[in-house]
Amino acid sequence: MSPQVKSGNGKPDHLLALKGFTKSFGPVQALTDVDFEVDAGEVVALVGDNGAGKSTLIKAISGVQPPDSGQEYFEGTAVKVTDPNSAVRLGIATVFQDLALCDNLDVVANLYLGKEVVGNGGIPLPVINETTMEQHALELLDELSVTTLGSVRTEVGSLSGGQRQSVAISRSLLGEPKVVLLDEPTAALGVAQTAQVLSLIKRLRERGLGVVVISHNLEDVFEVADRIVVLRLGRREATFDVTKTTREEVVAAITGASAEIDFKKEGK
Ligand SMILES: Nc1ncnc2c1ncn2[C@@H]1O[C@H](COP(=O)(O)OP(=O)(O)O)[C@@H](O)[C@H]1O
Ligand SMILES: [Mg+2]
Repeated sequence: MSPQVKSGNGKPDHLLALKGFTKSFGPVQALTDVDFEVDAGEVVALVGDNGAGKSTLIKAISGVQPPDSGQEYFEGTAVKVTDPNSAVRLGIATVFQDLALCDNLDVVANLYLGKEVVGNGGIPLPVINETTMEQHALELLDELSVTTLGSVRTEVGSLSGGQRQSVAISRSLLGEPKVVLLDEPTAALGVAQTAQVLSLIKRLRERGLGVVVISHNLEDVFEVADRIVVLRLGRREATFDVTKTTREEVVAAITGASAEIDFKKEGK
């Protein structure tokens, strides 16, 4: 467990913290009393078997499917995230598994989808300021070292999976969030593309963002994360500091075989 800094009122003082998140879908108890926290400049990997509740937790934090009960804290203040807009307004950005990119539009258009820059002094004009958007897009991608896209006028449909993921992550940063939630950003990517996405995640950490990343791939998790939170059957099973654990230990927590591992260790 990471040391928790307590604020004056005794609440854990994290960038984002959840207490007692519980969510069911009819008879399915997807989350049971889950506490969770992420700090600024920290990458937390959320791992667990299929159906463990990882996506449900991300959707609960981001307001897509608010929990049945539980309290969310942002920068130490109790907040109520009832819909995606309230999460975005707080500074919580989410990149869902489907990415929601428009294949027939270019990179710039996808980055600015729904937030097109308009004319003079905020006065809404029917003309989108393409030059400004392209300039900002180039600057953002350059800052993030997303350099492999070719032209920002390339249609997103022709990009590779890793490039598409990079566009989706970059887009999530336009609202200047403090927390970024990523659901399986490296799923189905090849080695080189995975490396691109992992280096982008590290860049988010360098910018001081709190990053939560769901992944099935423990190699990726050990490369990019500071802390690993294991969900199992909707509960928080374990928390590991990556520098002080092993893949075996994490796998054991995922499968619920931790007791066996302890037994083996004692036998050494
Ligand atoms: N919208 C939904 N309706 C009904 N059941 C759901 C819904 N979303 C998730 N579940 C169930 O909740 C559990 C957790 O799912 P999920 O959070 O998607 O797991 P993970 O992302 O860890 O694979 C699973 O049993 C899943 O079938
Ligand atoms: Mg999932």
